[in-house]
Amino acid sequence: MNKVGVIGAGQMGAGIAQVTAQAGIAVLLCDVDLALAEKAKAKIAKGLARLVEKDKITAAAAEAAVALIQPVADYAPMAEADLIIEAATEREEIKARIFAAAGKVLAPHAILASNTSSIPITRMAATTTDPARFVGVHFFNPVPVMKLVEIIPGLATAPATVEAVRAFAAGPLGKEIVLSQDEPGFIVNRILMPMLNEACFVLGNGTASVADIDKGIRLGLNHPMGPLELADFIGLDTCLEITRVLLNSTGDSKYRPAPLLAKYVEAGWLGRKTGRGFYDYSGEVPVPTR
Ligand code: 3HC
Repeated sequence: MNKVGVIGAGQMGAGIAQVTAQAGIAVLLCDVDLALAEKAKAKIAKGLARLVEKDKITAAAAEAAVALIQPVADYAPMAEADLIIEAATEREEIKARIFAAAGKVLAPHAILASNTSSIPITRMAATTTDPARFVGVHFFNPVPVMKLVEIIPGLATAPATVEAVRAFAAGPLGKEIVLSQDEPGFIVNRILMPMLNEACFVLGNGTASVADIDKGIRLGLNHPMGPLELADFIGLDTCLEITRVLLNSTGDSKYRPAPLLAKYVEAGWLGRKTGRGFYDYSGEVPVPTR
């Protein structure tokens, strides 16, 4: 891989751009507005500067990585990319529009991948110009820290496509790979989301407080974060959306979203990104709200 295009300069897109650039690969970081892509690049530069301060990487390595990231606002430069990774909003119609536009510039040898957390790969592949060169590549947040990448081939994905993205993620990016069939939630979210949803039921039932639910799982199961702080970290809207995908695509009522989770989303309390979820993030340290 010489050049990778990343579409969507949010938290996931920026994380993917960062690890790719740190691996010495040129990145086109694209968002609808150039200012958004530039802002994401500035944030990556700030994050890398912190790693320099902590002596994790050299100043030269940070500078080299930043120099490899080119913010863009249109797809034309993506014609030079060997791989385009879509990491936009988790809405199928938005992704379909991106695939149509990216498909127009995608080089004949290049691969189109989606970082979707739960939308079926086979269904999205059907909207692309070449389903054989389309694949799911699911990173985890924060991308620079989390070791895992899930690879999800759709029904029509060519084995060579899977091999190419595996070589990219396991090679220069140094990630660990798991392969999942194109089933709802793939591996990790299929198991994680019911747990986060259940924590919302436990809270809603009044079984325990936010702090005790999180402490219970942190110390009782050795998870780095409790389920409610993790749900806040991921975004409660994202958790609800993925839970609904699990429910709708399996028809199994065990995936019904907890009423409290839906209520928080209706209130606009989406977690860290809005300053309030199960915790209040307005002060120095997050404060449990229930
Ligand atoms: N970039 C680079 N490094 C980062 C970082 C970032 N954005 N965020 C944290 N780090 C590094 C820190 O520098 C630190 O490194 P060091 O130990 O070598 O100094 C290390 O990560 C730990 O960070 P902190 O000390 O700031 O904080 P914590 O020890 O509390 O760890 C955490 C933070 C890594 C987020 C940890 O709490 C954790 O692993 N939480 C669980 C995260 C998780 O489950 N993510 C998956 C979510 S699900 C998902 O993404 C799928 C989607 O589809 C929903």
